[in-house]
Amino acid sequence: MGLLSPRNDNPESNEMMQSLRRFSFGLTLLIFIMVLSGGFVAGIRAGLAYNTFPFMNGHLIPPEIFMLEPWYRNFFDNMATVQFDHRLIAWILAFLVPLFWFKSRKVELSGTTRIACNLFLLMLVIQISLGIATLLHIVPVPLAASHQGGAVLLFAAALWVSHRLR
Ligand code: HEM
Repeated sequence: MGLLSPRNDNPESNEMMQSLRRFSFGLTLLIFIMVLSGGFVAGIRAGLAYNTFPFMNGHLIPPEIFMLEPWYRNFFDNMATVQFDHRLIAWILAFLVPLFWFKSRKVELSGTTRIACNLFLLMLVIQISLGIATLLHIVPVPLAASHQGGAVLLFAAALWVSHRLR
């Protein structure tokens, strides 16, 4: 990315811009964690259980999330907890990424940076929709693989935005 655009071409470099930059770094980190969380979901086949959305068998927070002992095993071995964590981070991103996008509208950005921000929001919408579709259809391979590919594209979009705002 540095080779493609060696210089920062955004017209402004003020307080707002710095806060936008920090926000985009934080979101990129959260998306990285989300991708790891997705690996846990696929790893223990947690997508084959709780195939409803937004509720998990009628609960927003399933009662069995701390069923296993010791407690920390739940984050890796309990289908309910692993899937709940994946959904929870998705909700957080569904709130934070549009907030980031609205904030980005208030700053004067170069055309390419604006495109990167728009693409980031669009990719989040596509990725969350693919995730929900994968879950509701009980993990058919074409949808699951698209969701997997979508994660790469979303992470790439977040990196691009962070790079444009550096
Ligand atoms: C920012 C949003 C999301 C990202 C970055 C993300 C990322 C991922 C990744 C990387 C995987 C692992 C794929 C694999 O290794 O095969 C995965 C699996 C999965 N995700 Fe997501 N996900 C997101 C949102 C969602 C949402 C909203 C849902 C549904 C409520 C969901 C449901 C699933 C399911 C069911 C699987 C398991 C698929 C399988 O077993 O192959 N995801 N996710």
